[in-house]
Amino acid sequence: TYVVTEACIRCKYMDCVEVCPVDCFYAGENMLVIHPDECIDCGVCEPECPADAILPDTEQGLEKWIELNRQYAEQWPNITRKGEAPADADQFKGVDGKFDKYFS
Ligand code: SF4
Ligand code: F3S
Repeated sequence: TYVVTEACIRCKYMDCVEVCPVDCFYAGENMLVIHPDECIDCGVCEPECPADAILPDTEQGLEKWIELNRQYAEQWPNITRKGEAPADADQFKGVDGKFDKYFS
């Protein structure tokens, strides 16, 4: 499966939502997550994300994000259409430490 990682926080561009063939993205206030049981591993969302926030769960060191995607995909609402990205999204692109400051 694929996972959304810290780079999505406050960027939330949502280009990923547009391309997912199975609509398995779920939206929180500041980021999206992927439902691991619904993702079919097609990989098309990965290159679409301007923030490079989406990675295959086979990458090293993603335990925290794998867990977080699973947990919040059960709690947040499904999102099937791209909305408007935050006005200041570009200011948060590539910034470190976003989870501690802004996760919600
Ligand atoms: Fe959707 Fe494919 Fe991305 Fe999984 S890998 S979230 S199925 S676009
Ligand atoms: Fe987030 Fe990238 Fe999608 S910033 S909302 S994972 S396009």
